[in-house]
This record gives sequence, C-alpha cells and structure tokens, in this order.
Amino acid sequence: MPNFLKTVVLLGLIAFSSLSIAQSPQPPKSILATIQHATSDPTGSSPFTFDASVYQQDTRDLPIGVFDSGIGGLTVLEAILALDSFNNQTLEPKPDGKPDFENERFIYLGDQANMPYGNYAAVNKQDYLRELILKDVVFLLGKRNWKDRDSLQPTMDKPPVKAIAIGCNTATAYGLEDVKQAIKAWNIPVFVVGVVEAGARGVLELPKESVQANTCVAVLATVGTCNSGAYPKSIRSTLGLAGRQIPSIVQQGFVELAAAIEGDPQVLANGTAIDFLRRDLLKMLEEHRKSGDARPIGSVVLGCTHFPLVEAEIIKELLLLRELQVGGKFLYRDLISDKIEVVNPAHLTAKELFRTLATSRLRATPANGAQDASVSYFISVPNPASPGIQLSKDGGLDYDYKYGRLTQQFSMEDTKAVPMTTDLLPTTSINLMKQRLPKVWKIFSNANPTR
Ligand code: DGL
Repeated sequence: MPNFLKTVVLLGLIAFSSLSIAQSPQPPKSILATIQHATSDPTGSSPFTFDASVYQQDTRDLPIGVFDSGIGGLTVLEAILALDSFNNQTLEPKPDGKPDFENERFIYLGDQANMPYGNYAAVNKQDYLRELILKDVVFLLGKRNWKDRDSLQPTMDKPPVKAIAIGCNTATAYGLEDVKQAIKAWNIPVFVVGVVEAGARGVLELPKESVQANTCVAVLATVGTCNSGAYPKSIRSTLGLAGRQIPSIVQQGFVELAAAIEGDPQVLANGTAIDFLRRDLLKMLEEHRKSGDARPIGSVVLGCTHFPLVEAEIIKELLLLRELQVGGKFLYRDLISDKIEVVNPAHLTAKELFRTLATSRLRATPANGAQDASVSYFISVPNPASPGIQLSKDGGLDYDYKYGRLTQQFSMEDTKAVPMTTDLLPTTSINLMKQRLPKVWKIFSNANPTR
C-alpha cells in the first residue's frame, strides 16, 4: 500500500476510535423525535424536514454544506477554499498549485439568529442546542429556504448537500454524534466532519517537544465547548492511540470574546476584545497555577471559530504575560513556554474533508475545464410572523425568549434561513471578512457588490 494511503487509513482509524470514545449514550427523546420528524414529510416542504429520496441518485455534483452558529465558521470555509495540500489528480498529500476543492460548490449557513451556541449549556439548554444543530443539518440536506425575512412562503430551490463540515466547535462538541446517528437513521450517503477531532489531530501533528508529559496544552474555547470536555477527551485519545505521552490540558471558556470580535455593541459597551482576552487568559493562568499541576503551556488550540481571527493577539498577550514582572519577580514565566505552538482546527478540518471526500469517491466530476469553487451563503434571521416571538431592540431574538424555548416544537419556525446579504451583517463582520478572509470575501462580494 502506498505510504500516503497508509496515512489516510491510520488517520481514519484514529478519528474513528476517538469518536467511539467520545460517543454519548442513547440521545434524549427530543433528539430522537427531531430525527424522526425530519423525514416525516417526503416532499421536505414542511418545517425541519427534507426529501431523503434525492440521495438515491448520484450525489457527487451536489454541493458541500458548512455551518456555524454565525460568521465564525467562515474561518473554516476560508481554510477549505484555500486548501492546497493534495495533488488533485493523484490524491497524494502534495500541493500541486491548484485549490483542492476547485470544482466544488458550497452552501454556507450561519445560524446567527440563534447564536451564541456557546452559552446554551450555561443555562442548561443543551438539548435545545442539540436540536438546533440537527435543524441546521436538515436545512443543508433539504431544498427549503426563504427569499427574505418578510417572505410568507419558503421556496424549494436550494440544492441538497452531499457532505457536511461542522465549522463550529460548540456544535461539534454537542452535536456531532447526534448528526452521525441521524444520518445513519435516514440511511443517506452523506458524511460529516467536525472541528474538534481535527483540532486534536492538529495537536498530534505539532513538534513532539511541545507536546509531551512535561508540557501543557491550552484549549481556548466557548464555555459550552469547555463544559462538554470534548477537546481534552479527543486530544488524550488521539495522542494515546498514537502511543504519545499525554501532556496536561487546561481549558479556558471565553464568555464574551467571540461576540466582541464580531463587534456586538452590547458586549463592547463593557470592554474591548483585548480586554476580554487578557482577563480570561489571566484567569486561565491563575487556575492553572492553583491546580498544583502547573506544567508550562507550550501550545494553544484555537477551539472557537472566531479565535483564528485574533491568533496574533492571543500569542502576543501570552508572551507579554510571560514577561510580566512585579517587584522584579516574573509572575507567569514558569507557566508559559518561550515558544508557543498554535493549532487552528480549520486547516485540519479542510484536510479531513478532502480526504473523506476522496475516499468516499464523492469529489465533484470536473466540469468543462477548471472551475473556481462557488459558495451560496445563508444566514438565519428571526421570523417576525412566528406566533409569540419576542424580539429585542436591535431586531434579534430577545434573550429570555431565546434561551427559554422548548424542544420538539416542530411547527414553530421562529427563525428562517435567507441568503446572506451585506445589510444582514454588522459592519464589523463585513470588515473581518474583507481583511481576514480574502477567499470568502471575494466570492461573497461578487454576489453582493453594494459595499
Ligand atoms: N462558533 C462558536 C464556536 O466555535 C463560537 C460562537 C458561539 O458561541 O456561537 O464554538
């Protein structure tokens, strides 16, 4: 067997084993009901249903779905669009100067109306979050979408997807296993990859000296992702299966940072993104010291989709804290290595997506000559016609309404997915796309030339 194929098989085994370890027991009733409901209308025109019969045909030329709770997952889409880690002809893991996904079409969904996903666990709404994640998947598998916020009827013109990348750490941590179970129950030839296992593999691929028994890996994520324990579990099993020493692992949940990066005015009223970053890094270091197991942090996992957007700032802050002295004494030097490796799960997710597409023989058939990848962007917005809906002053879902909702209300469609346009995004998000996500921006701005 050629070496690159051996690597593919080994990585597949690692992914499979780490997933079986992470596997949760029988899902709650509401998840089973959501799975069952999804195929209850064979036409797929009722809310939260899709037409599974389309998957009886050749699916290779269908698009690939990528979703997140908002625009953060665009960092994953950017990594996918930018990927050139393989030879597109031979599939060997060698760049060939051509984007690996050059012939593919993508559907992106940002579930902006229901975000932040990272805070549902804090109010004990994990089951509702898990249902939201399955609904995102059902949207991607179906044709149903809305022309705009005020449309009274959905349209059925969105192509279904052949594969799904969950571009959200919290959604992967809470929903990946549900999605896999659902796909099995629906008996459709669709595969799904998530960012957490890819991130764990990223830790495995770091230089050995930065990940060994006397070092520490710091996972920076949402509070929800940290509470789920998905990253430590996945990192330990991935390293363990590869026969590697297990470092210590610290996690820090950031409450406001993702929203501050997006420019949420309510959050920014209380400080800048750097303020929140510094405050929570300090909290992490203090906790780490108190744990009595204070090995120096040699690597950080950017375990939230927004954090790659401030990667340079994170490293700068950590190195500044390393040098911080009070009364001639370094406060944190023993807790932070002088060299910090960074794991951005987005790139690894993109590689995993390509490998799985190739091994499943689901790559798009090349059209006439080389074609650039294309993306249709969707974003969720509140549905003003939904009975009992409560909106806040800025037009979003009211906080108490959003976090007070019950599972299994399948006739209640209080948000709807519409094409993403510039007027639906805050200026900060537009600027982030422009400055930090050039491939995403190029495709988006071609379709939305107004700003
Ligand atoms: N996209 C989420 C993640 O990667 C962060 C934002 C949110 O909490 O919804 O965990």
